[in-house]
Amino acid sequence: MAEKVSSLRREQWKSQMGFLLAAVGSAIGLGNIWRFSYMAYANGGGAFLIPYAVALFTAGVPLLLLEFALGHEKIGSAPMACVKVSKHWEWLGWWAVIFVMFGIELYYTVIIAWCLDFFVLSFNLGWGPDPNAFFFKKFLGLSGSPGHIGGIQTAIFAALIVIWFANWYIVYRGVSRGIEKANKIFMPLLFILTAVLVFWAITLKGAGVGIRAYLTPDFTKLTHPKVWIDAYSQIFFTLSLGFGIMIAYASYLPKKAELTKNAYLTAFINCGYSIFAGFAVFSVLGFMAVNQGKALSKVVSQSIGLAFVAYPKAVSLIPGGNLFGAIFFLCLVMAGLSSSVSIMEAFVSAMVDKFEYPRKKVVTVCGLLGFLGSIIFTTRGGLYWLDIVDHFITHYGLVTVGILEAILVGWFLGTHILRDHINRVSSTTVGVWWDVLIKYFIPLVLGIILIGDIYHEVTKPYGGYSWAAVLGIGVDWIILTILLAITFASRPWRVNYNEVQVAEQFGDIKEWEKEEIT
Ligand code: ALA
Repeated sequence: MAEKVSSLRREQWKSQMGFLLAAVGSAIGLGNIWRFSYMAYANGGGAFLIPYAVALFTAGVPLLLLEFALGHEKIGSAPMACVKVSKHWEWLGWWAVIFVMFGIELYYTVIIAWCLDFFVLSFNLGWGPDPNAFFFKKFLGLSGSPGHIGGIQTAIFAALIVIWFANWYIVYRGVSRGIEKANKIFMPLLFILTAVLVFWAITLKGAGVGIRAYLTPDFTKLTHPKVWIDAYSQIFFTLSLGFGIMIAYASYLPKKAELTKNAYLTAFINCGYSIFAGFAVFSVLGFMAVNQGKALSKVVSQSIGLAFVAYPKAVSLIPGGNLFGAIFFLCLVMAGLSSSVSIMEAFVSAMVDKFEYPRKKVVTVCGLLGFLGSIIFTTRGGLYWLDIVDHFITHYGLVTVGILEAILVGWFLGTHILRDHINRVSSTTVGVWWDVLIKYFIPLVLGIILIGDIYHEVTKPYGGYSWAAVLGIGVDWIILTILLAITFASRPWRVNYNEVQVAEQFGDIKEWEKEEIT
């Protein structure tokens, strides 16, 4: 059966467009809509676009090219691609897919669940007159500290079941019939609905105040190292780099595939989308500031509050706001789902590659374990856990994987091997600038950022939490996932990974499926 098309004969995207939409779907996520906008505002408004663009061109695009090329040339998920370069590096591929699946995915699905709840609440403005009290006290039922887990919040739990079911269903159906199809629906719909939001928002009274705050550059901020750290970590998160996703996605391409154009398009569509969606977010904030006679800085709350406190407040004030709110939260749900399925796929693909387990069983077990793991984030202490795990994994996990990938390719495999491969299969070629960035710039600059970050970390506990919470939750999460990665890497391969085959071109896989079925 097609089920057997596992590691030696890989599943396949149906078309170039299907692959591009899936890569864009993975990239565009919760991080684009509210995280980007808040970061831009907090880090100098329009001036943030400078470090953001620098990070995009010096790390984002080169690493995206690297991940596409690695997955495509080595024809494998992250662990398989790494082991084919050197058997000592297999753990790196495992670490990426494990901390992403059993770290980021666990809380990411919970945030999508919040969005789903808020989508429903939008219809009757169910957050009432005080969205702040509603969100923190009633909806999250926030306890006093991470140690006080308290009970499960039923509304979040119920939405979480729906989200995990949707994840499971999409990934269960496979690469082309599940992920590709879902993205072909989600992405165009997301773009249309976002455009509706932006055009609606910019016509609101006071929108100009918000847009000015968003775009007016404060160049003095560029001298703060934090602005640069934020820009680089935002680029990693937003392009799904260091997740193992883009490696797995590229491994489902046939031999003849455009790597360069797809990498450029993915990066530019994703970042363009962030900048575009920022107009809706800031127009609404400007509207609220003018409506309430407050300064804009008084209506912008920190990251999470921006979507779940400031936005509901604004929605209650906009004429016909229920519809506006429903569209906004639906966009977040769709953007979130298309990213969360990609996270699951990266792990599933790795398990199937190495252990030859039947794909559907892996998806079901992985979905169940993921769901169970997510429950901690639905408790009354969940927001603290989310904050700590997110901080450690995005700051140390993703960036470290990015640096190590660059070292692996730059110093062990040889950048020329991947660059030759890219140039052989793509119509747009890549020059030696790519080798320089991968071999020297990325390890050096990201290394400095990482060391600076760690130095800052040890001087005082993150976010004002106790050392026990920071070490027990954040640091332990990282250590545990490394140990798991080493354990997985030490198991023997059930397949000869050098014999993996892919189709010559799009469409060939159908022949293979027929063969397997008969
Ligand atoms: N790239 C995804 C996001 O931005 C994970 O949310």
